[in-house]
Amino acid sequence: MLLTERALTADDATATALLNCLIREVCAPEQQVWPDEGHVVLRLPRAGVVLRAGLARPPSGPTYRLTPPYEEQREDEWMPAAWDRLSDLVAGELELATGRPNPEFLTQVGDSRSALAAILAARGAPDDGRHGDRFIASEQALVAGHRFHPSPKARQGSPSEWLKYAPETRSRFRPHWLAVPTELVAEEGHPDAFSDLEAYGPSVPPGRTLLPVHPWQFSLLSHRPVLHRALAENLITDLGPSDTEALPTSSVRTVYLPDADLFCKFSLDVRITNCVRKNAWYELSGAAVLNRLLADTFATLDATFLAEPAYRTLALADRQLYEGLGVILRQGVKALPGTPLLAGALADPYGTFLADLPAMATPEGALAWWDAYVGCVAPPVLHAYLDHGVVLEPHLQNVLICVAPDGMPVHAAFRDLEGTKLTAGRWDLAHLPPPVADALTYAPDQGWNRVVYCLLINHLTEIAAAVADLHPSLGLWRTAREHFAALGAHPHVRALLAGVPLPAKANLRTRWARAADRAAAYVPAANPLAVPR
Ligand SMILES: Nc1ncnc2c1ncn2[C@@H]1O[C@H](COP(=O)(O)OP(=O)(O)OP(=O)(O)O)[C@@H](O)[C@H]1O
Ligand SMILES: [Mg+2]
Repeated sequence: MLLTERALTADDATATALLNCLIREVCAPEQQVWPDEGHVVLRLPRAGVVLRAGLARPPSGPTYRLTPPYEEQREDEWMPAAWDRLSDLVAGELELATGRPNPEFLTQVGDSRSALAAILAARGAPDDGRHGDRFIASEQALVAGHRFHPSPKARQGSPSEWLKYAPETRSRFRPHWLAVPTELVAEEGHPDAFSDLEAYGPSVPPGRTLLPVHPWQFSLLSHRPVLHRALAENLITDLGPSDTEALPTSSVRTVYLPDADLFCKFSLDVRITNCVRKNAWYELSGAAVLNRLLADTFATLDATFLAEPAYRTLALADRQLYEGLGVILRQGVKALPGTPLLAGALADPYGTFLADLPAMATPEGALAWWDAYVGCVAPPVLHAYLDHGVVLEPHLQNVLICVAPDGMPVHAAFRDLEGTKLTAGRWDLAHLPPPVADALTYAPDQGWNRVVYCLLINHLTEIAAAVADLHPSLGLWRTAREHFAALGAHPHVRALLAGVPLPAKANLRTRWARAADRAAAYVPAANPLAVPR
């Protein structure tokens, strides 16, 4: 049984994500999960509650494809357990496991469910996006969002404020242009980078410079007295909506401007999954530093890394504004070979991007597709880490896969310098301000955990699961092993092939602890590269 967007409900998707997290982060590490006649049964180790879930198909990798009804054992009976009951149970278990309460948790899960309900009501028919631009449709396809996060869709504010900026509703909007005094502009990077964007903006008198601004963020910042005053005194002029359209991508705050073929990565003072999406000053600077420092390294990889040639912001006496109005420019996609598709859309259990590719029509085609896919994605990520000490963040939202007309993967494009790090000791960052250097650096083990989690747990496991939804029993991981084995006898890779457990990022525990994303906990997960015994 395949899941479809048509059958997607906010209640079920919320419950499924909670159970996915619960199994990965709480039950599986304590061996409290077992299959049982078409179901999977799980026990909350400390609360002692037993739950069960349906399976859409037999497991083919390290994760289960869960499907409602979700039930709780009471005496000898199985009673329905809806998303809010599950949310209570998860909270109770985590309170026992950590000895700490989290009064925000239930609200965050509820907000995420409400946001998804609003998105589903506003999105329109599942087929609406089929005939438009496939790249854009894929960026706007993550309706249920992160499948291993307890509150994947939570967004502050009422849907009436944000639905018009939501990628999931296939929205388009016009960023505003601000005219700001040139002497108050702060920017780094290629001096001419912004002129490619300004070509689509109005002309401004000498001494003034254009700054694009996300209308949602502009309204979130409007209460700040310094901004208020600057607008009232005409120090800053709001020139209104631009002539050129912006399409929000899967990260919500980064938008694509098709006319200019550029992305603008805006700040958004809204928590989306684990982070408030603000470009901190050291991240703005860090992106410019990494873009310069890594250009040669990226050129050696058999893949594209979307460049972030410059940032721009406004240096008034208010750091919230400096960061809140900071915008990073990112290279577009038109020069990529083939049609770029967001990896997350291909992995989406409710979507049809994968099934729509001609190459997926037969089991042989699907296996060849997976072989090509792993060959495009894994080697560049592993070479970046092993040969250069560069930690990419190749999770499903940070990777585009370019496909040929028959759907076969031909090239990978990686993005997001904010998540890209350098391993300590490999790069000389002594010339940088310490907060910039610190934010760019990971200890080698921390970096390896991040690489392995993003590449194998977050990304390839989920793509493999989506392939298995269409063609079960393909031996996908035997094929994937060959790409890892081809990298040579590096100790890290040998350990992977020997089947060491993989580090899985614990989004549920991280949210419960209210920890920063950088301090996220990891739990061990089964390694699908291990040779079956
Ligand atoms: N499988 C997934 N893994 C990680 N993030 C996911 C996944 N599915 C959906 N997402 C969403 O993608 C975004 C990932 O955040 P990330 O920090 O990588 O992007 P960003 O820095 O905000 O923007 P950009 O990727 O444009 O640079 C979040 O909004 C998250 O909810
Ligand atoms: Mg990203």
